[in-house]
Amino acid sequence: MSTAKQPIIQVKDLHIAFGERRRRFEAVRGVTFDIYKGETFGLVGESGSGKTSIGRAIIRVYSISGGEVIYDGQRISGKIDPELDRRVTREIQMIFQDPMASLNERAKVDYIVAEGLYSTEKGLSREERTRRVHGALMDVGLLPEFASRFPHEFSGGQRQRIGIARALVMDPKFIIADEPISALDVSIRAQVLNLMSTLQKERGLTYMFISHDLSVMRFICDRIAVIHRGVLVELGNTEQLFRLPLHPYTQALLSAVPMPNPTYEKKKQPIAYDESVHDYSVDKPVWQEIEPGHFVLANQQERDRYMERLAACAIPERV
Ligand SMILES: Nc1ncnc2c1ncn2[C@@H]1O[C@H](COP(=O)(O)OP(=O)(O)OP(=O)(O)O)[C@@H](O)[C@H]1O
Ligand SMILES: [Mg+2]
Repeated sequence: MSTAKQPIIQVKDLHIAFGERRRRFEAVRGVTFDIYKGETFGLVGESGSGKTSIGRAIIRVYSISGGEVIYDGQRISGKIDPELDRRVTREIQMIFQDPMASLNERAKVDYIVAEGLYSTEKGLSREERTRRVHGALMDVGLLPEFASRFPHEFSGGQRQRIGIARALVMDPKFIIADEPISALDVSIRAQVLNLMSTLQKERGLTYMFISHDLSVMRFICDRIAVIHRGVLVELGNTEQLFRLPLHPYTQALLSAVPMPNPTYEKKKQPIAYDESVHDYSVDKPVWQEIEPGHFVLANQQERDRYMERLAACAIPERV
């Protein structure tokens, strides 16, 4: 067995703000989490909660207003030296939600897939670049001939494969997949997820999977972080979270997930999240580890309650 899990990404007290002065708005406030090598880490929350902003901050498209991002032990937020910059530009890649909008319509697949190589591997010969593009296309189940076509000649599923090839050609270590299947037909979603899972196993990739849909996350994520309006409210391994969600917002999200058991499904009532259940006027909430690997945003009073619930549900140890 391997020793302790190694973090590939460490996000520490991350803040992201948009706008200036009076119109300044903090979209992400004090977010802290680690992503371990080889895992699929899920980030879930409703529209506008800050998921994409966190992804873009990690990949350095958005600058951050506070905190830091560490990649493989080195700080990558803020100013970094050119060598590290080249390395992370290669090793961290992103796959986008809408394969119709994210590919440059006027460029051929060849150029779209190779684009990242032009800046990070300037010395690459044309033949070598073509070889890499063809290899990446085949890795995602597309024909090398497709390289000379334009994006509009492809279906949604094929376009998402092109998006994945575009990331893979860089030989990445960490991929942020932002709602990679939401825009796809239900019938091809599983194919894209399976492809991602195969690639992960073959290459030891680490994923951060962003979605608003917990029912998909349940099957693909090792751990899940729940974000509400720019603040993390709970993080745990998938089993822990589904078995005993502690934060009321997590409970509300889970109550909307379809269950495989039809009897249970019929009786189930969706729970609405009511923020006024928290009295944070005096007793302020802090992000804390409540059992190993299970984090929750809670004040002292809530923490005591959550601990009681955990104790009541604990499986008794054998003597
Ligand atoms: N470039 C930007 N300029 C100004 N505001 C932005 C920008 N990007 C995001 N925001 C704002 O930050 C907040 C979080 O947006 P973000 O796109 O990160 O949410 P999200 O969780 O990815 O939502 P969705 O599920 O709809 O994709 C929103 O209020 C959004 O309007
Ligand atoms: Mg988004």
